[in-house]
Amino acid sequence: MDTRYRIMLSESEIPYAWYNIIPDMPSPPPPPLHPATKEPVSPEALLPLFPRALIEQEVSSEHYIEIPAPVRDVYRLWRPTPLFRAVRLEQALGTPARIYYKYEGVSPPGSHKPNTAVAQAYFNKAEGVRMLTTETGAGQWGSALAMATNFFGLECKVYMVKVSYEQKPYRRSLMQVWGAKVVPSPSNETQAGRNVLARDPDSPGSLGIAISEAIEVAAHNEDVKYSLGSVLNHVLLHQTVIGEECLQQMKLAGDYPDVVIGCVGGGSNFAGISFPFIREALKRKLGTRFVAVEPTACPSLTKGVYAYDFGDEACTTPLLKMHTLGHSFVPPGIHAGGLRYHGMAVLISALVKAGIIEPVAYHQNPVFEAGVLFARTEGIVPAPESAHAIKAAIDEALRAKANHEEKCILFNLSGHGHFDMAAYDSYFAGKLQDYEYPAEEVQKALASLPVV
Ligand SMILES: Cc1ncc(COP(=O)(O)O)c(C=O)c1O
Repeated sequence: MDTRYRIMLSESEIPYAWYNIIPDMPSPPPPPLHPATKEPVSPEALLPLFPRALIEQEVSSEHYIEIPAPVRDVYRLWRPTPLFRAVRLEQALGTPARIYYKYEGVSPPGSHKPNTAVAQAYFNKAEGVRMLTTETGAGQWGSALAMATNFFGLECKVYMVKVSYEQKPYRRSLMQVWGAKVVPSPSNETQAGRNVLARDPDSPGSLGIAISEAIEVAAHNEDVKYSLGSVLNHVLLHQTVIGEECLQQMKLAGDYPDVVIGCVGGGSNFAGISFPFIREALKRKLGTRFVAVEPTACPSLTKGVYAYDFGDEACTTPLLKMHTLGHSFVPPGIHAGGLRYHGMAVLISALVKAGIIEPVAYHQNPVFEAGVLFARTEGIVPAPESAHAIKAAIDEALRAKANHEEKCILFNLSGHGHFDMAAYDSYFAGKLQDYEYPAEEVQKALASLPVV
């Protein structure tokens, strides 16, 4: 039989439920703690920031949560997303490995982010919210939320990390096309922003700072809530449509992955592709490996500590048990803006701790080299974030070649890089730096970890 290059599903095969990994975890994830009392935070305490439905999902012990019909209807604009067999990449590498990738860049904003943005906009609208605030790094999340709020008739304000705001003017325009207001962060609009600017007027910003600004605005306005594009349990939950579709597609391909790979910023696209496969691995005692790929410049899983820390720079969030570089860590302005977060999702961190997920880190030059090889063989220009997963998949395939192994490799291609061409320009001009792990900076930031 001819190898299938593109494995497609029909609209009717979009999953009807999201998969919640919490009840299947080896032990329950550590709860969020109140920073003053160090006691678990009651779900009620989160109501100023999130609608009730999302808080219920955050703490749910149900295995599956039904996808509401209006959310599924929006998903139909681009889901199911294709699964590709990377035949031309395999040939270029001369590997006996079979490489597959699930392509989330076919969504209108160009990444996996709308899988949760649409759900969050829907549940907020259903509870009478007027406006959502959020942060964005690379601009992928901000544009996803801008599109989703536009569909459901909500206003949207996006605090965009300043270095990305300057590097990616067209991401900002895209958010404006969908009706969002975009503010470079740190800004003078919030106390959190003003505090940072007073210390460092040239701050490049960070996701931690932008989160503080967005939270501050939501906390002070009753009809405004906050929306996060990664890290939280309900965000990871919404992304599991990726892995659920992919399980069906691997079956159609008559194959099954030995290794599942994704890049990690806060952990949502990796959770999306991997959690349904982790469920299968635990249930059927499979030896599948799960590899989470991060940048060497922001190595929360490979160099951070597993500890309770704040999710934001201004210490306004509950404490989360996660791999962290310290909430005051400001990573260098690398081009994979979506991977510049000091912490990692609680669920991913716990699964790393349990030995189920393996982390690896790469420098940005080899990542771009992998991205360019991918574009020249498979055609798609990957987002710099996604190129981290490609690099790891290529390394797996080359190891398989060296060991004469017919391994099956699956990775998530979380987005396209059409708005990231300035990053590719810098790469071609030899201007990208491979940042070494700034040990002193991290030591300084870790010294500010709260005592629990
Ligand atoms: C294309 C792309 N991939 C990956 C990420 C990282 O986020 P996460 O780890 O939540 O998937 C981002 C974040 O902005 C992104 O834009």
